[in-house]
Amino acid sequence: MDIKHGIAVVGSGYVGTVVAACMASIGHDVIGLEINEEKLAKLQSGSSYFYEPGLDDLLLSGIQSGRLSFTDDYEQAMRESEVVFLCVDRFSVVSNPEFLREGSAVKDFLHPERVVLGGSNQAAIDTVARAYGPILEQSFPGGNPTDRPTLVTTDRSTAETIKYAANAFLATKISFINEIAEICEWVNADVKEVARAMGLDSRISSQFLQAGVGWGGSCFGKDVEALAATARAHGQDPMILDATRRVNLRQRNRVVHKLQSHLRPLRGSRVALLGLAFKPETDDIRDAPSITVAKELMDRGAIVRAYDPLVKQIPDLPTLQTVSDPYAVAERADALVLITEWEELLDLDFMEIAEKMRGKLVLDGRNAFDPARVRSAGLIYEGMGRGTEPPAVSPERW
Ligand code: UGA
Repeated sequence: MDIKHGIAVVGSGYVGTVVAACMASIGHDVIGLEINEEKLAKLQSGSSYFYEPGLDDLLLSGIQSGRLSFTDDYEQAMRESEVVFLCVDRFSVVSNPEFLREGSAVKDFLHPERVVLGGSNQAAIDTVARAYGPILEQSFPGGNPTDRPTLVTTDRSTAETIKYAANAFLATKISFINEIAEICEWVNADVKEVARAMGLDSRISSQFLQAGVGWGGSCFGKDVEALAATARAHGQDPMILDATRRVNLRQRNRVVHKLQSHLRPLRGSRVALLGLAFKPETDDIRDAPSITVAKELMDRGAIVRAYDPLVKQIPDLPTLQTVSDPYAVAERADALVLITEWEELLDLDFMEIAEKMRGKLVLDGRNAFDPARVRSAGLIYEGMGRGTEPPAVSPERW
């Protein structure tokens, strides 16, 4: 096993010099940083500027072997290292969680609703707050001084928990509306109307109340899991967090079950997926619902093809075919499934889609299509939680 790493040690004081020399002695490539010229010259010659038994031997052999060097060039040290040891005193850490959404990260950074800074050193917090000054004041060109963010200063643990809790709450809100969506199907209600009216209550707000195939991406799953793991580690049963994840997985499976109930048999049926990215305006497929849906369908013998404006392949599903246009994916499909509500997919010409398809089912996994437009093309529209099914599907193979 190759355990050799490039290591930088920032600060060649008492601790840093020992760390650098010892790490080099066990085989790593180590570069130590020192800004004091005199100390640097001494270390570069292979001897220490303070007394510590055995240290000079390690310094000299490290330098002679080429595994250990000292520099005052910070950039060189960072460029060549995989692991960085911070061995300087007066070093403070401020936690500054970000709340950036993929697809609107620049706007979220420059016009945040809050800036959270957590740490134990008030001077360090003040320094970081000053760096955020133009954003907090919205005084930069393009800023909006009438809508300034709130600065929240707290301790590190609280700052970090704010981040996890915010993401977990958003994920829970989506899972909540997805559970309501399922109930809507039983009672013949339309979850879109339910969510719209709920959202008019400012205590609830309309954001993150879009029912559908559920949440994905690299953040929600990880953060919900991390909070749940912390709770479990302390003997607590994270009931809401677990339910959030379970409902989310169920949403993906519901898409498959809906297709299964329409396309009998699923084996040999042709399913066209519209959208692969975990949300619009990104090519990110981490924990994307599309992957679970495509895999489940393929495992059940369906022939799955997909179109996404940016994602052209899913490495974990090399046999998933992608095509370069949304109409091409509809060709000879028994069912068309919207997984990611890309803007360009919302205006599809359903007459053309209907002509290309072999079947008639349009499963709107994001409740983003206009059902009337889909139905007027002679297609069968089904959403996620949008009341009872339209007229029964004819038993013959469409
Ligand atoms: C999320 C948070 O929104 C950011 O505040 C946070 O900074 C970021 O995670 C992070 O931790 O780095 P992001 O993952 O980019 O941002 O995407 P979101 O816009 O939050 O969407 C997440 C998922 O929820 C997507 O799959 C989206 O389709 C789904 N979603 C969103 C719904 O299913 N329904 C909704 O109503 C809203």
